[in-house]
Amino acid sequence: MSQSPKIELHLHLEGAASPSFVRGLAAEKKADISGIFDAQGHYKYADFNAFLNVYEVATSVINTPQDYARLTTAVLEECAAHGVIYAETFLSPDFCGGGDVGAWREYVAAMQEAALALRDTIELRAIVTCIRHFGPEKARAPALCAAETVGDFVTGFGIAGDEKTLEPRDYAWAFDCAREAGLRLTAHAGEWRGPESVRACLDDLHVERIGHGVRAIEDPALVERLAEDGIVLEVCPGSNVALGVYPNWRSHPIETLRARGVPVTVSTDDPPFFHTTMSHEFDRLADTFGWDDTVVREVNLTAARAAFCDETTRQALIKRLESQ
Ligand code: ADE
Ligand code: ZN
Repeated sequence: MSQSPKIELHLHLEGAASPSFVRGLAAEKKADISGIFDAQGHYKYADFNAFLNVYEVATSVINTPQDYARLTTAVLEECAAHGVIYAETFLSPDFCGGGDVGAWREYVAAMQEAALALRDTIELRAIVTCIRHFGPEKARAPALCAAETVGDFVTGFGIAGDEKTLEPRDYAWAFDCAREAGLRLTAHAGEWRGPESVRACLDDLHVERIGHGVRAIEDPALVERLAEDGIVLEVCPGSNVALGVYPNWRSHPIETLRARGVPVTVSTDDPPFFHTTMSHEFDRLADTFGWDDTVVREVNLTAARAAFCDETTRQALIKRLESQ
């Protein structure tokens, strides 16, 4: 599957940093973060909360606009090697300049320049995220940063982090601010909490896509609503299996959701953490559910239609996928 063109909508930029990239930066900065790696040099974590901790320690050495530009280049090259022609990445002003708008602008400029250099191979857009476990007060600065930089690179706003903390409505100010600035909206939900968390993001934050959303499967009425309203799920099956949301690929609900008419897309979330790539995701979906080229094209067309990009870019993506 590595050569078929793919669209990836759910990818955390720091979460896509390889252990060797992070080790290299740590060495340059003389930072000792060896505790986050296992004997094989892979990221080491035991559960979701430990994963979030390791994520934040790894991210702590990626701390200048130039670091983020290098990371953008490395991540886009890796995505493109697996056939990704368009990606959206989550970025957090909390990690890029501590929520200061002036600093954030410098990070955005560096990443956009790195992305533009590769645009003949792969296109990138950015979704600014607030971090749920940092709390609602800390979510305001990312929303303001997003509003100040909305344009042809920064196109979306969302929320990541520990879904078990607080409620979507606690972040309504940030989402209202982002919506009023013209940003498209998505939110992580239905990964660690059940269907009510997905409903709350739709009703209280008015998002048009859900990050994960897979536990909607536990409520048939919600599944029907997602299908009827065309709410797109950014499904990351390998992430869900690696973190234990589902015990194995066979029990993952992506195919049942798709069969019931929910628009599903496929992404990697934090690929080196979960030992996955976009090729690996589609290979496992082929093995497990018999996804053939027709299904793969349809799922990627769903992603192109739901992408937070301008119409010219969207039509070019659709044309490329349809010509396969
Ligand atoms: N941040 C990085 N990966 C995440 C995930 N899978 N869920 C929530 N927040 C995240
Ligand atoms: Zn995610």
